Amino acid sequence: MLEEILALKRERNAAILAHNYQVPEVQDAADLVGDSLELSRAAARLDADVIIFCGVDFMAETAAILSPDKRVVLPAKGAFCPMAHLVNAEQLREMKAQHPDAAVVAYVNSSADVKAESDICCTSANGVQVVKSLSEDEVIFVPDRNLGAYVQRFTDKKVLTANGYCYVHDRLTPLEVEAARRSHPQAEVLVHPECRPEVIDVADFVYSTSGMSRHAQKSEAQEFIIGTEVGMLYRLKKDNPDKEFYPLSEAAICDNMKKTSLDLVLIALQTLEPQVVVPENIAARARKAIERMLAI
Ligand code: 13P
Ligand code: SF4
Repeated sequence: MLEEILALKRERNAAILAHNYQVPEVQDAADLVGDSLELSRAAARLDADVIIFCGVDFMAETAAILSPDKRVVLPAKGAFCPMAHLVNAEQLREMKAQHPDAAVVAYVNSSADVKAESDICCTSANGVQVVKSLSEDEVIFVPDRNLGAYVQRFTDKKVLTANGYCYVHDRLTPLEVEAARRSHPQAEVLVHPECRPEVIDVADFVYSTSGMSRHAQKSEAQEFIIGTEVGMLYRLKKDNPDKEFYPLSEAAICDNMKKTSLDLVLIALQTLEPQVVVPENIAARARKAIERMLAI
């Protein structure tokens, strides 16, 4: 199947992008495996006619917004990020009306219409940097309350968060960190900023998914407890074969990230469907917010 995928990929002049949470065989078939920021950057600069995006809806939408001349295909029809749908454009407009002087930051895990209502986007890798770059003293941050609270730790600006959260990260607990540390006392604890503040408080480091990978490579530690979706462990072990990685919770599984299989990648290359299209009136406004992020 891999051979067939590679041959079709050449024929179609396609590139396969995969998020760090994808199943191992999909990661292995990809041209690039990365976090949301790396995948957005790649989507903007890739010289391909087709992007097969192995991830969830908002990621493929971001690629489509940045590359209107490319055909973007999401192999698992309907794979979506539940958090991205916890705040809609109407709710954001209400927040804006209540805080007319605030800048609006949309975490990329949001719908295209929410991005279109925003001044700038951010990812988990650059949220602090993005908020610090703004001249406004007040910032509306949607949809993730946990990432918003994490960003608030690093700035004197007032960060007004919505009530969105990621169900995979939000259910990780300090008790699980304590138990994992007891089992692996030498291990460093790395968690994602979508975790609750009380989990962030007891972790050693907080990183985006690819940030975890970079940290594991340069750290002198040999063992790591990983507080994010379990798909990340395959990437970490592949990049660091001589180090050990333990999930903070075996239950940290994003069902939508697991919908993409190698069969679906092959079908996507054969049919170039399901295509992801963002209407240009929304895409044009969302593009400004994403490009403003990429510029910093
Ligand atoms: P990263 O950008 O850190 O890969 O995070 C994306 C995501 O969906 C985390 O749950
Ligand atoms: Fe969305 Fe959470 Fe899944 Fe990431 S892990 S795609 S934030 S539901």
